[in-house]
Amino acid sequence: MQTARKKIIIDTDTASDDAVALVMALREPTLQVLAITTVAGNVPLELATKNACLSVTYAGGARPPIYPGADRPLCRPLRCAEGIHGKDGMGDQSCFRAPEVEAERTHAVDAILRLVREGEGDIEIVTLGPLTNLALAILQEPETMKRVPRITAMGGAAFYGNTSPTAEFNFWVDAEAADIVCRSGIPLTIVTGEAGLEAGVLGPEKLELLEAASERGWFCVTCNDTMRQNSIRSRGYPQIGLPDPIALAALTRPELITGSFDAHVRVETQGSDLTYGMMVCDRRPPEYGAVSKHEGPRQPFQAKVVYEMDPEGFFQYLYELVK
Ligand code: RIB
Ligand code: CA
Repeated sequence: MQTARKKIIIDTDTASDDAVALVMALREPTLQVLAITTVAGNVPLELATKNACLSVTYAGGARPPIYPGADRPLCRPLRCAEGIHGKDGMGDQSCFRAPEVEAERTHAVDAILRLVREGEGDIEIVTLGPLTNLALAILQEPETMKRVPRITAMGGAAFYGNTSPTAEFNFWVDAEAADIVCRSGIPLTIVTGEAGLEAGVLGPEKLELLEAASERGWFCVTCNDTMRQNSIRSRGYPQIGLPDPIALAALTRPELITGSFDAHVRVETQGSDLTYGMMVCDRRPPEYGAVSKHEGPRQPFQAKVVYEMDPEGFFQYLYELVK
């Protein structure tokens, strides 16, 4: 008997690594992508939405509705990542076909709340960008959002940041939103920047294999050309990193997870440039009593933090979906 597909909503600041994750998700037979919601992050919202439409076009799989969401973080100015992904977020290429799908007019937060409210309590959410849309949905209808069984979020730094010494980009763009999600009571799987930076790296050989696999494979490599050119300039050879596809793989191929821990996770919102957006993992066992009367109350662990995945297993998975 065929097992039911897992229903998910994907929230994304679609730039080049998000695009690969979207292609994978739309071709993964065990997933039913009910909606794609876009958020400002890597690039401004309009570009993230256009890039999501382009990724759906090239995926050659299901074509779920795309809902544009927040165009800025909750409290701070938007800070993008064009240096990594290109000004348009997709490697600044002129060779792609025009998108064959258009975004909806409904706001992402309204779409998320409607789907979760009308669903059977079985709709998980995968986030690939800043958590602004999720935070707005939680603030607007906290009880509705408690119907979400799990959020798998690409974000956070377990040991070292990629955007500041302590913060990963998605949590650094909107730390207030990330902390609201951590405090929501929704179970979390947080797939950190380190997992992507290590297991999600494609060097010259893997890039060649992927590019030659299919038009989808060519799209996945070409939209990451800014990263590839940056690597050629700095390392002397092509290489890209795919943190968002790693986060998706943590959901659909948990056997590829080789390093994780459970914790109560919060995100620093009052910090300096050194610590704003830092993920704080409290691993003190909540069931043990406080060591000192000066300690604050211990919180139950609400997050599984994934910091390491199998790189070869990940590439085989990516290649199988894209070829
Ligand atoms: O830190 C990596 C994350 O930030 C990825 O989601 C990338 O797309 C950017 O959003
Ligand atoms: Ca992203």
